Amino acid sequence: MDKFVIEGGFPLKGKLKVNGAKNAALPLMAGCLLTEGISRLENVPSLIDILTMSQVLEGLGVKVRRKNRTLEIDTTHLSYYEAPYKPVKLLRASTLILGPLLARLGHARVCLPGGCNIGRRPVDLHIKGLRQLGARIEVNNGYIEAHTKGNLQGSSIYLNVPSVGATENLMLAASLARGITLIRNASSSPEVVDVANFLKRAGVKIEGEGTNLIKIEGVRQLNSVHHRIIPDRIEAGTLIIAAIITKGEISLEEICSNHLTSLFVKLRQMGAEIEAADRRVKVKGGNLLKPIRVETLPYPGFSTDLQPQITALACLARGTSVIRETIFENRFTHVPGLRKMGAEIKVGTSQVRTKGVSCLKGTVVRAPDIRGGAALTLAGLAAEGRTEIEGIHHLDRGYEGLEEKLSKLGANITRVED
Ligand code: UD1
Repeated sequence: MDKFVIEGGFPLKGKLKVNGAKNAALPLMAGCLLTEGISRLENVPSLIDILTMSQVLEGLGVKVRRKNRTLEIDTTHLSYYEAPYKPVKLLRASTLILGPLLARLGHARVCLPGGCNIGRRPVDLHIKGLRQLGARIEVNNGYIEAHTKGNLQGSSIYLNVPSVGATENLMLAASLARGITLIRNASSSPEVVDVANFLKRAGVKIEGEGTNLIKIEGVRQLNSVHHRIIPDRIEAGTLIIAAIITKGEISLEEICSNHLTSLFVKLRQMGAEIEAADRRVKVKGGNLLKPIRVETLPYPGFSTDLQPQITALACLARGTSVIRETIFENRFTHVPGLRKMGAEIKVGTSQVRTKGVSCLKGTVVRAPDIRGGAALTLAGLAAEGRTEIEGIHHLDRGYEGLEEKLSKLGANITRVED
């Protein structure tokens, strides 16, 4: 297993391009199951999660080929309705094939998914919504088995929480359903909007994406699509916090500033300088960081996927910060590592209080999951001395060559085979 070795204390400087969004690429790969022939997704990051999703699709008879940043997905021989167990178990987003398989083949058998250990992460909203579209679904022995007699039927669906994954799964299924589907309390996240834009290109009529009420008018067949994936707001946010925590100054290109508004608000409150244009941002970390109150919320609120990273930053602020997590119940997995590095953090039921310290100290820590691992990496960049981050296979699931990007910006970080 590889690890990162970081010598802390080097301010990040320079310019970098941000990759395409993993969280848009994964539902779009599932969405390709709906299209006839060969679809192309551009700007797809090279990540373990993308590879795992490719294996899921290949297990269904689909051909997936990567040419640089483009994935070519050929569904001509899509014939199996049972998803391969191993890759599905590794990736929560593999549940997103449920809707497309049902809509396209009338049958799907998918084991309950795995993924990051950040909470219970049920799939009840996916199942309930698909039942409302007419599917018969049973969950037995860890498998979801779904059938439909004839076509799925458009319906009016209310989501108890604006789940990103459930919104995407239901939009995908509704695209081949008869009639109109309304999804109320839908997620308004940029990744959902990207899925809507992909489906529109394939011929589906969709309104309301980016709001909490999405209307989908199903079609009989989806054309093949050529679609460019949106920039990864979580990779961008992580690099931005990396610049601030090291008191550096960086510019990021090929981002969507609009998608990062809630992060910019919080970072400005902490004292960072942020100059945001449409597709570009320049950030500068100050010497004295102010403490902050952050609450994670569905988009456009503060993203839970940036909570561990801003918690690491708050550990170095002048005063007490309160970070509340409302999306996942077990998302403070980075706290033991930060404490080991000298952070003062008290954990409550769904929030942490950090009393800023003047410096963190390098030591050996373990990445607990993707974003928790990112938080520890950022802490290591700012810490005095040498930090070793073990378990970086988690980071490889969500960040492409993170150490290379940080090195380009002047960080002293290397990947070492353990
Ligand atoms: C997606 C993102 C993940 C991000 C999360 C929240 C992808 C591949 N992953 O995950 O990085 O952290 O959004 O922004 O896009 N819930 C239910 N029942 C369900 C589904 C969800 O109760 O059937 C709950 C979850 O437990 C959680 C909340 O809804 O508390 C939000 O989860 P959801 O938006 O579905 O997250 P994912 O789509 O899995």
